[in-house]
Amino acid sequence: MTMTQITLSKPDDMHLHVRNGEALKRVIHDTAKQFARAIIMPNLATPVTQVEQAQAYHQEILQALSDGGHPDVDFHPLMTLYLTDNTTAETIYQAKESGIIHALKLYPAGATTNSDAGVTDITNTYPALTAMQEVGMPLLVHGEVTDPHIDIFDREYVFIETILKPLSKAFPALKIVLEHITTKQAVEFIDNAADHIVATITAHHLLINRNAIFTGGIRPHHYCLPVLKREEHRLALVKAATSGSPKYFLGTDSAPHAQHAKESACGCAGMYTAFNAMELYAEVFEKANALDKLEDFASSYGANFYGLPKTEKQITLKKESWDVPHDLPYATDTTKESDEKIIPFRAGEQCSWKLY
Ligand code: DOR
Ligand code: ZN
Repeated sequence: MTMTQITLSKPDDMHLHVRNGEALKRVIHDTAKQFARAIIMPNLATPVTQVEQAQAYHQEILQALSDGGHPDVDFHPLMTLYLTDNTTAETIYQAKESGIIHALKLYPAGATTNSDAGVTDITNTYPALTAMQEVGMPLLVHGEVTDPHIDIFDREYVFIETILKPLSKAFPALKIVLEHITTKQAVEFIDNAADHIVATITAHHLLINRNAIFTGGIRPHHYCLPVLKREEHRLALVKAATSGSPKYFLGTDSAPHAQHAKESACGCAGMYTAFNAMELYAEVFEKANALDKLEDFASSYGANFYGLPKTEKQITLKKESWDVPHDLPYATDTTKESDEKIIPFRAGEQCSWKLY
């Protein structure tokens, strides 16, 4: 029987960028419609490295939610700290105490948006990692080496071999999330790793391969990091996501950038999927004949990993085509007194599922 409707516990987005200031005010509402909670990335222009900064950012998000005039929205931001060469064990203990910080994020310095303050040598983080292992604080990993001599399509695989495998041996009890995996080698690593080493998978890496960056010309809205890979890798990701394994769960990596910052001679990395995230995932699971596995992937496995209860709210998805807008309002650029736009994933095309 073909399913035309599915109701699930309101999902969690376990990897999300919402920025701050004007941009935050716009994008947070898209996520709050789709998700009950989200792990909030700390790569702001001024990285969120200290507990006080995370507390202020948490407040800013809650304020943006209530200012949006959606009093019925009950959305919980799950905060993270940005790991640096100088993060102390004391900061980890404070983060644990705070009750609002759920993980630390490792950006290799220079790997992606706002990662200049990232880690230059993983051994510099050993005092912090020791404390994290001790208190059960997960490490979220942007898994790419930054050596410009390594081919961009190999950077995830090389990271797994040269950094992640030794790291997981040095800290055998450390909870690790390999974020936004893009390769069959990442799936193989996760499948063979201990139970507390897991991965998130984005909708875009499940839906398109690297040809989508070059369809008829260069497509800046299909550029993200880690960059899209070959079809064989996409197929390995679909298999992992729809396998029913608790080691794989939902993380959109929705990463908003204004239209002009994407459509540029040096365009920013990131796709904006928050607007239609669950519709996109439903399409993937339907095509794989695995709609019955969607709820665990989207609403249970991530929550279990982070030790959170399943939410009581529900969402319904219906098999129903709709047109994705060409653009959405984004931040107001006060310097230019003009309104910025953001281009959502699938802009000007259709989605075959609709969220209710
Ligand atoms: O495409 C990406 N965009 N990948 C990342 O790792 C960061 C993100 C962003 O913050 O823009
Ligand atoms: Zn990200």
